[in-house]
Amino acid sequence: MRMILPGKTIGVLGGGQLGRMLAQAAARLGYRVHIYEPAAHCPAGAVAHKEINAPYEDTAALTAFAKECDVVTYEFENVPAAPLQAIETITRLRPHWSVLATTQNRAREKRWLRDNKFPQAKFAEVAAGGDLAAGLREVGLPCVVKTADFGYDGKGQLKVMSEAEIPAAAQKFAGQPVVIEQFIDFACEVSAIVARSPNAAVRVFPVAENIHANHILDFSIVPARVAPAVAAAAEKLARLIAEKIDLVGVMGVEYFVTKTGAVLVNELAPRTHNSGHWTLDACMTSQFEQQVRAICGLPLGAVTLLSPVVMVNILGDAWANGEPRWDTLLAQPNVRLHLYGKAEARPGRKMGHFTVTARDADMALELARKYQARLPG
Ligand SMILES: Nc1ncnc2c1ncn2[C@@H]1O[C@H](COP(=O)(O)OP(=O)(O)O)[C@@H](O)[C@H]1O
Ligand SMILES: [Mg+2]
Repeated sequence: MRMILPGKTIGVLGGGQLGRMLAQAAARLGYRVHIYEPAAHCPAGAVAHKEINAPYEDTAALTAFAKECDVVTYEFENVPAAPLQAIETITRLRPHWSVLATTQNRAREKRWLRDNKFPQAKFAEVAAGGDLAAGLREVGLPCVVKTADFGYDGKGQLKVMSEAEIPAAAQKFAGQPVVIEQFIDFACEVSAIVARSPNAAVRVFPVAENIHANHILDFSIVPARVAPAVAAAAEKLARLIAEKIDLVGVMGVEYFVTKTGAVLVNELAPRTHNSGHWTLDACMTSQFEQQVRAICGLPLGAVTLLSPVVMVNILGDAWANGEPRWDTLLAQPNVRLHLYGKAEARPGRKMGHFTVTARDADMALELARKYQARLPG
């Protein structure tokens, strides 16, 4: 399999923080990076060789971008799948467009998981204008209603606890295709980041335990505080999913762990994942470097954990009373800070993250909570 060697150009669709950290990892290995992103002054463009601002539907701009790239990848799932097919006629697209097409729509993703016999929560699909109440009855209460398209960070989701809440849910999702999912009263959530190269080599990073606040990732804890069998099951599922979907690149797989220790697939993301940011500071290879290696056909890097670690997301909320206390945070010897260079700090917006390393996961979490609480200005 031909390698795309350092010095070549990697194209990235999407210019957010995942693209930024990818561009930084690629630059360290001597690659050039071009970012394609509709909005100007994006986090990734600021650290790349070139930033192209045009809509994803602009075939002429996409074609010109693709012609300059030796390989194109994406850091954002809501890139329309159709224009990606045009890119594939010009250069290599990794992962292949069909991987994105399957995973960017919740209904298609869940159907794919079911057809391939991967464990997941019970679900039903309701088409736009369909009978939501019938779907809710099929799945049973409590459940979670999710829009099939464009959901992230809990946006486009509603938990339905009782029959009385059905009319409000029907109104909220009127005219949109949705997926209705059984509510899982989970023991915890974990995720695994898997990388697969063009020659089918696979590496799975150590499993992270994830704590969400308001549906947005708050902490990732590594090693996950779960039974070895649970971590092994999550790793194995990630590997099997990567193989079955014919991944070339990196994929994040989110899971629910039930109180009886069953591991259910929640979501797939065919890109680096927020719950893998800890790899930048506490792993032999970061998920971003692994993405570069995978899409360029280089040997995959070792996924050895170097220290127990906790990653903390920094949301725009931390700016509520002015600039966060970076001085206090940076005074800690066991902390590494990553900021994404976003100008506007809106509540719920991911502005950066930090990691805390310690002798064990519980200690790292305790310190992480303490530093997080002290951060707002
Ligand atoms: N069926 C469910 N049962 C219990 N919790 C859920 C369920 N679906 C979502 N959640 C909670 O909401 C979070 C976000 O949902 P998810 O489906 O991963 O959407 P996204 O990350 O795209 O917003 C999950 O990580 C979990 O904490
Ligand atoms: Mg999710």
